[in-house]
Amino acid sequence: MKTAVRYYSRSGNTKALAEAIASAAGVKAVSVDLPEAAINEPVDILFVGGALYAYGLDGHMKAWLKTLKKENVKKAAVFSTSWISKHSMDLLKKGLTEAGIPVEEETFYVKNRPDAQQLKAAEEFAKKHI
Ligand SMILES: Cc1cc2nc3c(=O)[nH]c(=O)nc-3n(C[C@H](O)[C@H](O)[C@H](O)COP(=O)(O)O)c2cc1C
Repeated sequence: MKTAVRYYSRSGNTKALAEAIASAAGVKAVSVDLPEAAINEPVDILFVGGALYAYGLDGHMKAWLKTLKKENVKKAAVFSTSWISKHSMDLLKKGLTEAGIPVEEETFYVKNRPDAQQLKAAEEFAKKHI
């Protein structure tokens, strides 16, 4: 099972989840503003995480979602942190669906900064889907 983890995080909350998920999958979490975030080879599952900023996704995430090619991603699963709204996950799912990529119904969400128990739960979420 080939797994990839991509995220965008301004203050580290979503990055912490991404790293827990990546560690469970034995891969590296890559920020979508880096050139190596491009998915150029087929993956079985792509975990995508982003937070909400003024009701929307960060521009880096929006731009990266547009680069995805469905032939390189069998399915995706989304995770997020935010202060109140879980709308970030709807927006991530929408971007992936628009790229023609099937998205797991189940998501993983934490309000702001994850604690140790939530990081453990993020690892379990990853293991369930890989
Ligand atoms: C400029 C800014 C705008 C935000 N807007 C929202 C928002 O509209 N709704 C919400 O629920 N949280 C909002 N938040 C809270 C963040 O989504 C939350 O702190 C999140 O965990 C940040 O993730 P990050 O550390 O990965 O960047 C905002 C935070 C910032 C800094």
